[in-house]
Amino acid sequence: MASANALVSSLLLLTLASSFPLLLQPCFSNANSLSNCNFDQILQFGDSMADTGNLIRQKPIGPLTPFARLPYGETFFKRATGRCSNGRLTIDFIANAAGLPFLNPYEKNDANFRNGVNFAVAGATALPAKVLAKTNITDPLTNSSLHVQIDWMYKKFNVCITVGDCSVKFKNTLFIVGGIGGNDYYYGSRSGKTLQELKIMVPEIIKAIMKGVKRVISFGAIRVVVPGILPFGCFPAYLTLYQTSNSNAYDNKDGCLKEFNSFAVYHNKKLQEAIRELKREHPDVVIVHSDHYRAFEWLLNHAVQLGFDGESTLKACCGIGGDYNFNLTRMCSAKVPVCANPNQFISWDGIHLTEEAYKRMAGQLIDEIFPKLQCSV
Ligand SMILES: *[C@@H]1O[C@H](CO)[C@@H](O)[C@H](O)[C@H]1NC(C)=O
Ligand SMILES: *[C@@H]1O[C@H](CO)[C@@H](O)[C@H](O)[C@H]1NC(C)=O
Ligand SMILES: *[C@@H]1O[C@H](CO)[C@@H](O)[C@H](O)[C@H]1NC(C)=O
Repeated sequence: MASANALVSSLLLLTLASSFPLLLQPCFSNANSLSNCNFDQILQFGDSMADTGNLIRQKPIGPLTPFARLPYGETFFKRATGRCSNGRLTIDFIANAAGLPFLNPYEKNDANFRNGVNFAVAGATALPAKVLAKTNITDPLTNSSLHVQIDWMYKKFNVCITVGDCSVKFKNTLFIVGGIGGNDYYYGSRSGKTLQELKIMVPEIIKAIMKGVKRVISFGAIRVVVPGILPFGCFPAYLTLYQTSNSNAYDNKDGCLKEFNSFAVYHNKKLQEAIRELKREHPDVVIVHSDHYRAFEWLLNHAVQLGFDGESTLKACCGIGGDYNFNLTRMCSAKVPVCANPNQFISWDGIHLTEEAYKRMAGQLIDEIFPKLQCSV
């Protein structure tokens, strides 16, 4: 049985991973633009940034995670749904803007999947657990890596995929592959790898993500969004774990850890290069990178105008201690204080964002990706 500490650390990892990748929204005037696409379903893959209830259904670990209980979910759902936030996630706002209901998690067997399936699992990695183990990264919180999630999708749509006529079924389907990869890096940093060592993993992780995109295209996807990862150097968890007296480590403007953000930029740049290449190979498929990094940066730079507390942009709402209201051994749970107004915080638990932050980012992201989806054609 894993010790409580090990569980907490692996939870952190998983969450962190997700923090790398994910989300969306700014301009309310266009918030409904996605409905012009007439999507009839969304298929989402990824990690905690998008999980709407898969991990908490995976026994034995899932139901023991803090995400399975309050205060997770307290603001919007008034109960824990398995979302790693106080309320809705970017994918919820995207589904909403597309005129669709919330996506049910794949692991909820009796659910209605008419408008899509959410295959994302908190803690999931881009690389399969076996591959990670070869580089000394062991015991991810879940084995449901990106390719396991895509296998689930294959099973679910088996009939049309094997007879090769999913083109009708997926004509109005939006595929969102990621964000994913953040957990690979997080588990890696926890297993003692330096950022330089992690950098060596980037091409392999990008390759795994692109392989996922290629698989969904081979199944008949014609509109695929591929999110990048977030500037995790601005996350209370990283700011606490890598706190240093060296002021050069911090960005003067926002107080984030520069090296970690540069790492995220590097990952996103490589991802965008790979997407450009894939688009050349598949001119008939719409493949869109969604820039979660930039959306988060926008949010941080306009925090006060957007109604966030300017003193708390780098502090967790649910958490305790230190300069960032975060302590790895006392992470967000019913035993830890929760801020009075989560809508004024960007970070919910030090790793994941608040509903308000996801909502604002979703607005930005929808405005960014909608024109690129070429729905009016
Ligand atoms: C894995 O970890 C062990 C023990 O820390 C170390 O001796 C070994 O070199 C590592 N292997 C790799 C591939 O990093
Ligand atoms: C992951 O897979 C291994 C090998 O199949 C299994 O022993 C382990 O219990 C799995 N872990 C989780 C969290 O599912
Ligand atoms: C985190 O919490 C533990 C347990 O309460 C405490 O011993 C430790 O000093 C705290 N760490 C920080 C950095 O505040």
